[in-house]
Amino acid sequence: MKARFIYFLAGTIGLIAMVAIAVAALYRDAPGTSGIAKIGGPFELVDQDGRARTDVDFKGELMLVYFGFTFCPDACPTALLAMSQALDLIGPAADKVRPVFVTIDPARDTPPQLRLHAQNFHPRLVSLTGSDDQVARAARAYRVYYAKAKGGEAGDQYLMDHTSIVYLMGRDGRYLTHFSHGTQADKMAEQIRRHL
Ligand code: NI
Repeated sequence: MKARFIYFLAGTIGLIAMVAIAVAALYRDAPGTSGIAKIGGPFELVDQDGRARTDVDFKGELMLVYFGFTFCPDACPTALLAMSQALDLIGPAADKVRPVFVTIDPARDTPPQLRLHAQNFHPRLVSLTGSDDQVARAARAYRVYYAKAKGGEAGDQYLMDHTSIVYLMGRDGRYLTHFSHGTQADKMAEQIRRHL
């Protein structure tokens, strides 16, 4: 009688533990990450050589993504330089990381303009542009805000306001982490290494 009760008790505790583990696994990624986990997704753009590129092309490698514009005097060059330096710090293993620049100023950032601009940064940098609509969709997927700066110069000399965040995306295209503006290359490299 007593032994049977102990078996029953042990079985019940085991069952409760199993349910608890299952529930914990289900909610593991939930607290605070549900919004940010939705960053990224499909895009259809054109690279600096005029070739059509989609998010599918980058599956299987980590993607370090930044949205900006080539005429940007400060934020963009700082971020793209940090990305390039981070990959240099990682060394040969950085071959598995694809740095990607997406313009939010497709009117001026044509493929030839992107090609010129890319020469200042990492040799593996893929720079992307597209129609207004294609760019808008890509930016929306990454929760990137952009707009023509008010009170700027006339004609072709305008500036763009934009979100300045570097995103690290996984081999499956899913969001891994991000770097706020001003993150130093060594800090960036340290985080990227964890996912290699
Ligand atoms: Ni910028």
